[in-house]
Amino acid sequence: MRHYAVSLTALGLLAFGWSAAASAATPVTQVTVDTTKPGAPISRQIFGQFAEHLGTGIYGGIWVGKDSPIPNTRGIRNDVVAALKAIKVPNVRWPGGCFADEYDWRDGIGPRDQRPVRKNNWWGDAPETNQFGTHEFMDFIDQIGSEAYISVNVGSSSPKDMREWVEYMTSPGTDTLANERRKNGRDAPWKVAFWGIGNESWGCGGKMRPEYYADEYRRFQAFFHKSDTNQGLKIASGANAEHYEWTDTLMKVAGGDMDGISLHYYTLPTGDWNSSKGAATGFGTDQWVSTFSRTLKMEEIISKHEAIMDKYDPQKRVGLFVDEWGTWYDVEKGTNPGFLYQKNTLRDAVVAAANFNIFHHHVDRVKMTSIAQTINVLQAMILTDKDKIELTPTYYAFKMYVPFQDATALPLTFTAPQYSAGGNTIPAFNASAALGKDGHVYIGIANMDPVDNIVLSVDVSGLKVTKVGGQVLTADKMDAANLPGVKAAVAPVDYKGGKIKGNQLTLDIPSKSVVVVQLN
Ligand code: AHR
Repeated sequence: MRHYAVSLTALGLLAFGWSAAASAATPVTQVTVDTTKPGAPISRQIFGQFAEHLGTGIYGGIWVGKDSPIPNTRGIRNDVVAALKAIKVPNVRWPGGCFADEYDWRDGIGPRDQRPVRKNNWWGDAPETNQFGTHEFMDFIDQIGSEAYISVNVGSSSPKDMREWVEYMTSPGTDTLANERRKNGRDAPWKVAFWGIGNESWGCGGKMRPEYYADEYRRFQAFFHKSDTNQGLKIASGANAEHYEWTDTLMKVAGGDMDGISLHYYTLPTGDWNSSKGAATGFGTDQWVSTFSRTLKMEEIISKHEAIMDKYDPQKRVGLFVDEWGTWYDVEKGTNPGFLYQKNTLRDAVVAAANFNIFHHHVDRVKMTSIAQTINVLQAMILTDKDKIELTPTYYAFKMYVPFQDATALPLTFTAPQYSAGGNTIPAFNASAALGKDGHVYIGIANMDPVDNIVLSVDVSGLKVTKVGGQVLTADKMDAANLPGVKAAVAPVDYKGGKIKGNQLTLDIPSKSVVVVQLN
């Protein structure tokens, strides 16, 4: 049910609101973008990815082996590489997740036919063949033109193991580990942009208390040296959702020794980890709204962690790295429950855009994020079916937001209507604006209203708008999806809903859609 509501916003954030009865005509919502007051840069790292050894995320999804009939380059799928290049993936986090804290990097180097097979204890007890290890991952990173975010094992390993992996990968010298890397086929050291010191150390990464992990973090990070040629950023394992005490303790005890601290927050339509999380397809309006109600909580969660970080780091030197986020549904019927395979629909694309808009409002602290996960797992960009691939609606949301990579955030204010169903009320849309590297102003809009369009009357201070274009992603059904091997049904098309009349810019935004508008 649509409410006419007033929600004063700063930088697009919902600050307060009231609601009254709906009016018959579509209300016009005033939006202001101010190009004269540019904000902080939107790091391209905000559009990062996460690829764990989980289900078919790596094996089948990225790695098929060089003898596969599926076209590949040194064992890595060509179709997947081409698709990921097109969304300019800035970073990929690997090898986990929970998997990372049981991973022995030595299992994944050397001749592939001699690598050990292990049991993937976290994910369906699947055999881990180690065919995809450090060299294969870094080849994948090079092929897609991205940067590496290596998650090191803190939970079941030692600083010595970590230090040896660091040296193996990054040493330019003639030391034994660098020479072993050369013997295994890689002469030049790799650049690793980010090192994650443990994953979910409060849970699958060792069930540590914050005080204990803070000391462990300090111990592990001490073995990165100022003399290292590769100076990647060091990221502490951060809080789960609203676990604010974790961030507080970490910042207090170890804030001075880190470049970033992570945050994990997943969107479950029911909010229930223990029974049904909600279906990926075939849901109704109530679950559409509860999904957005929960995903928009990202705003509050980030703000509260930021406030804690501001206490210890007012200069905002330490970044908040939201390195796991996205939708988490019940697995697709008939699939291995440990493989976290779920379908991806229009709803997921709108969820992605709504989160991008939130991240853009916090770019002075949120320096990087990684959606979970790239292929065949949770909110995936790509679903594979043997030799076929499907580019999901989420993939297209990432593609539409490429102009925001390394753009400059612009202040945006608006007055939002609200939408209610099933006991939840959400703002009908959220939005963010930026000045792109190409000199255009971009406005990204997530219309979360499943029924009605919204009409925006946009005042762009400091720019005489002469042309409006862009792209729109929508469909008739809330759970519209794409299929492997056929032309995507849910894909962006040219946006034709913009009108300029004198100084007035009007945008007609269809219900349940993602729109990225480009202004000249
Ligand atoms: O992304 C799936 C899992 O979710 C990750 O392995 C873990 O870090 C998180 O709990």
